[in-house]
Amino acid sequence: MDDRVKTGIKGLDELIGGGLPRSSSILLSGEAGTGKTIFSLQYIYTGAKDYGESGIYLTFEEKPEELRKEALQFGWDLKKYEKEKKIVILDAASLRVGVPTEESFYVKSDADIRALLSKLYEIAADIDAKRIVIDSIPAFFFSEEPDKMRDDIYMLGRVLAETKATSLLITEIVNSKGYSRFGFEEFIARGVITMHLVEGEKTMPRMAEYKRSIFVRKMRETNHKIKQYPFSITKEGIVVYPQGEIY
Ligand SMILES: Nc1ncnc2c1ncn2[C@@H]1O[C@H](COP(=O)(O)OP(=O)(O)OP(=O)(O)O)[C@@H](O)[C@H]1O
Ligand SMILES: [Mg+2]
Repeated sequence: MDDRVKTGIKGLDELIGGGLPRSSSILLSGEAGTGKTIFSLQYIYTGAKDYGESGIYLTFEEKPEELRKEALQFGWDLKKYEKEKKIVILDAASLRVGVPTEESFYVKSDADIRALLSKLYEIAADIDAKRIVIDSIPAFFFSEEPDKMRDDIYMLGRVLAETKATSLLITEIVNSKGYSRFGFEEFIARGVITMHLVEGEKTMPRMAEYKRSIFVRKMRETNHKIKQYPFSITKEGIVVYPQGEIY
């Protein structure tokens, strides 16, 4: 088996030695609306469609129906692969707000972190998942107590390692500071990719245009440049421009 896992993001794999290091966890970090969910849907969808790799999308915020709709904008029909059990969307969003779910895969509303992780593991074993997305880490925490959070993230790391899948852990940057929300996330991540909106040239006073950029901040076992690359969200999803300059 190839030791790199193709992200399916045009232009990105060539910047990171052919893909993500297999069986590792990578943090995908960025401020609100920078494209983290689209990136992750693209990763799961192309995995199933182009590389024959099954994937699980564990969602805590958006409902599965919303994700399917978001994906469909780019022509990604998740349902098709869900029917074949090549993709599973695991619904942990409905339980958080206490509304019923019609999903086949969901986390019960009285579940604790162990129950949640054992459900994740069970599905991963069942469909032989090679890719897992956790959307998102801040929403995954059951407690805001630092010791508890550290335990939770450690347990998540152990379970993900046990599955041998290659995972994307979505986290957020607040006010452009750092690249993880709490700092614990980095412990279990072998790589960090951040997504940004940067202010471009002002065409008129006070009329700044924002540009999207992506940055591979850390990637073990990988020779990569420390540089921000421009990307755009096209009708086929995210496209990174390896030769492009942001300014
Ligand atoms: N069809 C589309 N074409 C181009 N851009 C789009 C399209 N759909 C969404 N976008 C852009 O992508 C953004 C949303 O991306 P996404 O949901 O992946 O962000 P996110 O980083 O997950 O945000 P959050 O932190 O709020 O979850 C929108 O704000 C919009 O700018
Ligand atoms: Mg999102």
